Amino acid sequence: MAQINPSILSADFARLADEAEAVRGSDWLHVDVMDNHFVPNLTLGVPIVESLARATDTPLDCHLMIEQPDRWAPQYVEAGAGSVTFHVEAAAAPVRLAREIRAKGARAAMALRPATPIEPYEDLLPELDMVLIMTVEPGFGGQAFLDIMLPKIRRTRQLIDKHGLDLWLQVDGGVAPATIEACAEAGADVFVAGSAVYGAADPAEAVRALRAQAEAASAEAWWACKH
Ligand code: DX5
Ligand code: ZN
Repeated sequence: MAQINPSILSADFARLADEAEAVRGSDWLHVDVMDNHFVPNLTLGVPIVESLARATDTPLDCHLMIEQPDRWAPQYVEAGAGSVTFHVEAAAAPVRLAREIRAKGARAAMALRPATPIEPYEDLLPELDMVLIMTVEPGFGGQAFLDIMLPKIRRTRQLIDKHGLDLWLQVDGGVAPATIEACAEAGADVFVAGSAVYGAADPAEAVRALRAQAEAASAEAWWACKH
């Protein structure tokens, strides 16, 4: 089952509650937290996540592109996030952090920048609910999809299957009608889309269309017969 997570990075930040409503029916809302240190951009923090969690029934998928996620991630669970993603490049103790996120009641996810391989983290996979393979360099919406990431998506799906894990595989960056099928075929089942959703005339319809494309592509995929 393909999940589409619209990224509010491409929404109007002065109207976040309305923008959440505009994609009603999405599985999650993807919330990009940037600190101008881990990435060269600054977005939003805990108070806005708290307000947004109160303003919408759609669960929040918080993607932390920040230094010191060990210190900050638990606060995003307390703020109301249903899933919290930390970057493994920034985490001091990823296993301890994933356990803390789960113990506080949220799904724990680990993100990899494009140059970070999945293989060194194979043994960590049972500690996680989701892996995020970045398909652009994190920091900005509207960038071109990096198709050189498709083999890493495929290898990650193979590792998930090898260990028999119920682990979601998310892609983020440049996901659009032209690229979502390749991601689904490679093994992704959770798709973040910012500009492809909020740049569309009808964002809710864009979510439905992307989901239909992803479902059709994954139904035919090498990895899907096992699911
Ligand atoms: C980029 C963010 C993405 C961004 C994706 O660093 O993590 O979530 O919103 O935007 P699009 O879908 O426009 O590439
Ligand atoms: Zn993101």
